[in-house]
Amino acid sequence: MNTQVEASIYDYPVYYDLLFGSDVASEFRFLKACFQKHAGCEVSSVFEPACGTGRLLVKLGRAGFAVSGNDLNPKAVQYCNDRLAKYELPATVVVGDMSNFRVRKKFDAAFNMINTFRHLSTEEQALGHLQCMAKGLSKGGLYILGIHLEPTACKPMQEESWSARRGNLVVNSYMWSKGIDRKTRLEHLGLHVDVFTPTSRLRIVDHMEYRTYKYAEFLSLLEKVPALEIAETYDFAYNIRRPHVVNGRSEDVVFVLRRR
Ligand SMILES: C[S@@+](CC[C@H](N)C(=O)[O-])C[C@H]1O[C@@H](n2cnc3c(N)ncnc32)[C@H](O)[C@@H]1O
Repeated sequence: MNTQVEASIYDYPVYYDLLFGSDVASEFRFLKACFQKHAGCEVSSVFEPACGTGRLLVKLGRAGFAVSGNDLNPKAVQYCNDRLAKYELPATVVVGDMSNFRVRKKFDAAFNMINTFRHLSTEEQALGHLQCMAKGLSKGGLYILGIHLEPTACKPMQEESWSARRGNLVVNSYMWSKGIDRKTRLEHLGLHVDVFTPTSRLRIVDHMEYRTYKYAEFLSLLEKVPALEIAETYDFAYNIRRPHVVNGRSEDVVFVLRRR
């Protein structure tokens, strides 16, 4: 049976998780190495804004960190809390907006690995987010932020695809840029996710808008939050021994921000 729906991939946590779960091991190792190398405090509590299905958060919880997070999507929050409960961890993820939230207890580290920050479509939202993060972090704590920058010295990447399989379930995705509105700095992206089982095929047709950041634009935003400093930069190879010096060709960059 062939079906097509126009929907958000975030409303399908199982498929999202399968698709983006593949890099979890290297991200997990990298996060723990960052805590060791760059934090100015002992890291025992970790927060993930826009945590989605909690693919990394749950792994950190199982490793002994006190974890919590938020996400706008109630289905993702439910999925994440159910998964925490499965490992007898407290259901500490709440529905919330990462551009405007408060936490009861400060956290020692936070992370937001795969471009999610760019969902914040205005400067006010992005600034609000960084201010909330700075407020929530313990002194010396880290915010590890992975974003796809717009390069200035080469042509930007225009498309990406991922594929994943678990048993008889196969999920393929294709994302492409439909162009950037220079006035609003919003990049319009198309996303097709094809889900195959032995008896069916479902196509999820999605559309996203991501705010664009040239390196200088990101730095000028960060300057407005003096409580956060850049401790180091890496790329999406997640190699703790190989920091990445950002240049005009850089696209996938991980900023390790530290609370002063
Ligand atoms: C690409 S997913 C990332 C999920 C997770 N951080 C990960 O690494 O797998 C983006 C997530 O951001 C959430 N999101 C988008 N805008 C948000 C906002 N303003 N506040 C909180 N969550 C948001 C979506 O619901 C979705 O779960």
